[in-house]
Amino acid sequence: MAHALQPLHTFALNNQCQHFVEITHLEQLKAQHFSAPYCLLGEGSNTVFLTDYSGTVIKMATKGIAIQERDNDYLVRVAAGENWHQLVSYLLAQNIPGLENLALIPGTVGAAPVQNIGAYGVELATFVDAVEYFDITSKTFNTLSNAQCEFAYRDSVFKHRLKHQAVITEVHLALPKKWQPVLSYGPLQQLTNVTPQAVFEQVINTRNSKLPNPRLLANAGSFFKNPIITAEQLTALLAQFPQLPHYPYEHGQYKVAAGWLIEQAGLKGYRIAGIAVHQQQALVLVNYGDSQGSDLIAMIKHIQHTVQARYNITLQHEVRLIDNHSECYINVEA
Ligand code: EPU
Repeated sequence: MAHALQPLHTFALNNQCQHFVEITHLEQLKAQHFSAPYCLLGEGSNTVFLTDYSGTVIKMATKGIAIQERDNDYLVRVAAGENWHQLVSYLLAQNIPGLENLALIPGTVGAAPVQNIGAYGVELATFVDAVEYFDITSKTFNTLSNAQCEFAYRDSVFKHRLKHQAVITEVHLALPKKWQPVLSYGPLQQLTNVTPQAVFEQVINTRNSKLPNPRLLANAGSFFKNPIITAEQLTALLAQFPQLPHYPYEHGQYKVAAGWLIEQAGLKGYRIAGIAVHQQQALVLVNYGDSQGSDLIAMIKHIQHTVQARYNITLQHEVRLIDNHSECYINVEA
């Protein structure tokens, strides 16, 4: 039975999938056939269905939060289908801070480790104690330590070795009792009364001022990754563009702000059909409606072309794109 995809992903293109299954009990996973094309989904805030999808969309909707107090921290075990922001708010209300910089990130807890969600100087990886997953070949439940998750900037083992192998079922977070605020990000430095609640509220205000609420204007958050470049590349770029925001990354490399590159290339507000570069944050693409996957692909290619020609940098989309039967990548070289 065909099923509407529009309500299942926040970019809200008007497509359909062949089959849809909602997992509310982990036992259901054992009965699931993973041989035909399938696509795992949480709340669909980082996935775009470009066309109709010929396989089965499997939505993880299990619930449950268990908190265990230990000597120096709280161990919080959370089912994959829990909403991320609700978890952050709930823990804060229980006097368990730590996640406040990650407030208002859309999506589920189970999706969070895949791209190692991050914002305002904090990444999920800092707090992950373990991740439990269902192995679709052996049909067993397994546990990975933090190190085994191979976390990096918007990256983890779930995008590589375990890409077609794992269904994340639970995330275990270790939240230290000794709260250490992370205030490196501009708007947080202005806080005079530094409490978890104040950081939480400032993050929410900052996000609301720049990032469109997917319930009001369809979008999938940052569409592209901030590119990682070498020190030599950075020096060359700074000679031409001294204002380019850049941050030290690992191994002497630098991360540069893709939103700045796109804005300075004159693309803010650029529109193809109902798809546009967001006015308040050029890293976000929005869908005003009446758009096709082909319009979005044209937009991605146009942005990649323009940025490549101007800065000699190839932007990679961070959002997961799904075509008729599998994930696909749009990558325009010069
Ligand atoms: N900038 C511009 N123009 C723009 C956008 C950004 O000049 O249109 C400049 C800003 O002024 C700033 C710099 O670029 O100097 C960085 O911008 P911002 O702080 O808004 O963050 P970002 O690098 O664009 C990343 C994450 C966001 C996260 C913010 C805050 C990625 C791909 N995105 O965006 O995550 O909320 O930092 O920490 O790393 C997401 O992944 O969906 C997401 C929203």
